[in-house]
Amino acid sequence: MKCILMNKNTKVLLAEYDSATGVFMKILDVYNILYAPYIITNFYNKDNLNDDSFRTNLSNWFKGRGIPLWRDSLDLLLHRLNIVAPSELLDKAFGLSLSDQYWLKPQNLDVCYDDINFFDHDFSYTEFMEASLSKNSKIITKDASLKTPNNTTDGMLKKAWIIEDGVRYLLKGGYKNELLQPFNEVLASEICSRLGFNHVDYKIAVYKDIVVSKCPCFINKDTELVTCNQIKNAMERHNNINDYEEYIKILENHGIKDARIKLENMYILDFLIMNEDRHLNNFGIIRDVNTLKWLDLAPIFDNGQSLNIKYYDEEEMHISGEGRFFYELKPFDEIINVVKDIKRIDLSKLDGIVEWFEQLLHKYQYLTGFSDIRINRLCILLNRQINKLKELQKYN
Ligand SMILES: Nc1ncnc2c1ncn2[C@@H]1O[C@H](COP(=O)(O)OP(=O)(O)O)[C@@H](O)[C@H]1O
Ligand SMILES: [Mg+2]
Repeated sequence: MKCILMNKNTKVLLAEYDSATGVFMKILDVYNILYAPYIITNFYNKDNLNDDSFRTNLSNWFKGRGIPLWRDSLDLLLHRLNIVAPSELLDKAFGLSLSDQYWLKPQNLDVCYDDINFFDHDFSYTEFMEASLSKNSKIITKDASLKTPNNTTDGMLKKAWIIEDGVRYLLKGGYKNELLQPFNEVLASEICSRLGFNHVDYKIAVYKDIVVSKCPCFINKDTELVTCNQIKNAMERHNNINDYEEYIKILENHGIKDARIKLENMYILDFLIMNEDRHLNNFGIIRDVNTLKWLDLAPIFDNGQSLNIKYYDEEEMHISGEGRFFYELKPFDEIINVVKDIKRIDLSKLDGIVEWFEQLLHKYQYLTGFSDIRINRLCILLNRQINKLKELQKYN
């Protein structure tokens, strides 16, 4: 079908879109390339609209906004949603999302952003939430249950958007039977709020049989998340510290204040909780979709894969000390060296946080089944990282 890719109220391009596969078959016109998803603007060639790399990257970007093929328990979710592939969902609700403002307008349909966006308009979510997160769920039969921003959520973990008191919240479960992710998210929020780092606030929530983390949407009708992964296309690749420096330079050139300090803060958090998952889609910037101004770094989000989550063994304590720094896997002890002035952090603000975390883990022990040994080890790890950072402060 012929569709116009819209960014809120701005027409970006006209294309022939194949709904079954989620592929843009042919670009028919480009109206406003500056309002296109940042990741594809670099591939645009005004003399050849159907340049392969432009069209392919457009399709890949669009599919990338949907539920990925590596989503935990995808088979079960598809069965419950009564569909064959996540690509079927991509344009079900005009492709609208709660993380950006792009949507697909069928060329001849008289509809505008204000009529349909999910920031103003409620959506039903109970069925999708249960299909995505619950151990027991029925097969969804109502098409209305698929007209939601849940069709466009990225990431590996089972998740669902819900609405409470008008606020859009993202619920995220653990990976397979692991339930530590939500607790790591809450710990990260506590650390960030004590140290004054701009972050997304995660809480523990329990819905029926499900322990999840719950965070408010950090995007509004005027903004979009542009991840570092999207921005890196404009960068030369060096595979070393220069990527980081170049990224900072790009952010500063776009007028973002204190970009370095804010990025450092993210790596300080990653050090403290041993976050292994700071890949390029787990941080980025917020852009104004009306003016295209880069407003700020995105608040710190997605911190669940931490505290040795993948290496837990009841018999023995394994400590993996590797995190992510741009394209590289590196020991946390090395990554932390990007922080120019580690003494600027007042670590006394973290006094008592290990006990606080221990209490939190005990409070939900009846649901998580975490052993006392495991809780103890998680606290040892956290304590160890805080002390390491204190040592670094002494010797720098
Ligand atoms: N609070 C939020 N508000 C808006 N978009 C969000 C929010 N949290 C996550 N997202 C979007 O959803 C994607 C997946 O969420 P994330 O927390 O990274 O999950 P996962 O752990 O599965 O990677 C993010 O990359 C981002 O695009
Ligand atoms: Mg993520």
